Amino acid sequence: MSNSEERGPDAARHDRPPTRREFVIAAGMAPVMMGVIGGGAMAQSEPVASAAITVAVRFIVNGKPQSLALDARSSLLDVLRERLALTGAKKGCDHGQCGACTVHVDGRRVASCLTLAVQVDHREVLTIEGLSPPDGPLHPMQQAFIDHDALQCGYCTPGQIMAAVACVHEGHAGSPDQIREYMSGNLCRCGAYVGIVAAIQDAAPKMRRA
Ligand code: FES
Ligand code: FES
Repeated sequence: MSNSEERGPDAARHDRPPTRREFVIAAGMAPVMMGVIGGGAMAQSEPVASAAITVAVRFIVNGKPQSLALDARSSLLDVLRERLALTGAKKGCDHGQCGACTVHVDGRRVASCLTLAVQVDHREVLTIEGLSPPDGPLHPMQQAFIDHDALQCGYCTPGQIMAAVACVHEGHAGSPDQIREYMSGNLCRCGAYVGIVAAIQDAAPKMRRA
C-alpha cells in the first residue's frame, strides 16, 4: 500500500497537482477564506459560493456563426463538446499535454482544453467535423490516415489530423524528422506514430496541389 493510500483519499489528492476544476473552485473560494483568516467582516457572514459570470460570445465554428451565453470560465473544448455537440475534439488530459483536443482558431492549431471560450470571440474555429464537406470527399489528410493505418483505437486521431493539417500549412512537413518534431505535442497511446508520419508525408504534396 502506498503512503497516500495509507493516508486516505484526501492525502492522495494533495500528492498530485490540482485539476482545472479543483483550481477554479479553490480560486473562487479564496476571498471567502481570506475573510475568515483575516477575521474581517466576511468571517461573520455565511460562506458564499463564487458566482459564475456569464458572457456573450460570438464566433464561427466550421463556417457556421454561433452566439452563446457562456460561463466565463468555460474552456473552448467543453463548449464545443457540451454546448455544440461537436465531440470530435477529445478530452485526453485536459491539461494541454496530449493534443487530443487540437482544433484550429483562425487557421492556427490550439489546445482547446487550454483555450477559454471567451478568447475565440469574433474568431473562426475549425474542428475535425468541418475539415471536409459532409457529402464531399475526405480531406487528403483524413484519407492518408486511412491509407496508412495511422490509427488503432482512434481516440487521438481527430487531434492528430488537425495538428497534421496545421503542420503542413506551417511548412513543417519537409522530412520525417521535422514532422516528428512538430507533431510531438500530439501523443498516441496506441503508438501509431509510424503510420502518422507516413500519412503526413503522403498528404503534404496533395494539400499543396489542392
Ligand atoms: S485534452 Fe487538451 S491537450 Fe490533452
Ligand atoms: S490511435 Fe489510439 S491513442 Fe492514438
